[in-house]
Amino acid sequence: MLISVSFLSSKNPPKDIKKLNETDVDYIHVDIMDGKFVKNKTMPFREMKNIDKYTSKRLDVHLMVENAYHYIKDYASLNSEYITIHVESDNVKENLLEIKNYGIKAGIAINPTTSIKEIVPYLPLVDQILIMSVEPGEGGQAFIKESIDKIKEVKVLLKEYKINPVINIDGGINDQTIKYCRDCDIIVSGSFIIKSDDFQERINKLR
Ligand code: DX5
Ligand code: ZN
Repeated sequence: MLISVSFLSSKNPPKDIKKLNETDVDYIHVDIMDGKFVKNKTMPFREMKNIDKYTSKRLDVHLMVENAYHYIKDYASLNSEYITIHVESDNVKENLLEIKNYGIKAGIAINPTTSIKEIVPYLPLVDQILIMSVEPGEGGQAFIKESIDKIKEVKVLLKEYKINPVINIDGGINDQTIKYCRDCDIIVSGSFIIKSDDFQERINKLR
């Protein structure tokens, strides 16, 4: 299981991203919010692009935006391994193809209240399924227990369709809730790590 750290709750992203670069974390999870798909808004790309100065880790980009199209080119220019868009957003197929056009792995994210049936049409195009275990929009929320069933449902679906994208889970993951997520390939953890003084110690607790 790989670990992706979200710095959404960071008070000082450059400092914390540099600190994370000294740990053995596998990815930096970059949360992007447009103030429309979710009510909060993150910093613009002209600031976010500096991330490449602070870390050599690969990025796992999570676009919580209504229309991802205009964001894809920007985030494809960074050290991104995955760019993930929401199944609830606009022009999903076109945007997944756009991500792949840049040679980057494409992910589909699914909100807690959305049925997994919604992702079926896109399965042939995706390299990652990102199960949201909180409502998207802010860090530091409690893990939604029903997400455990979502993981099982996704596993059944992948078996049925004989495909193998990685399963990622995002929101409310800490040293207690991690036990529900052991069947996932990647887990995203934010405040549990970022709100601590010793990032590596927290990461070790999740491994
Ligand atoms: C929620 C974001 C998550 C979140 C993770 O909208 O997509 O990535 O910041 O942070 P924690 O672990 O604090 O829930
Ligand atoms: Zn996220």
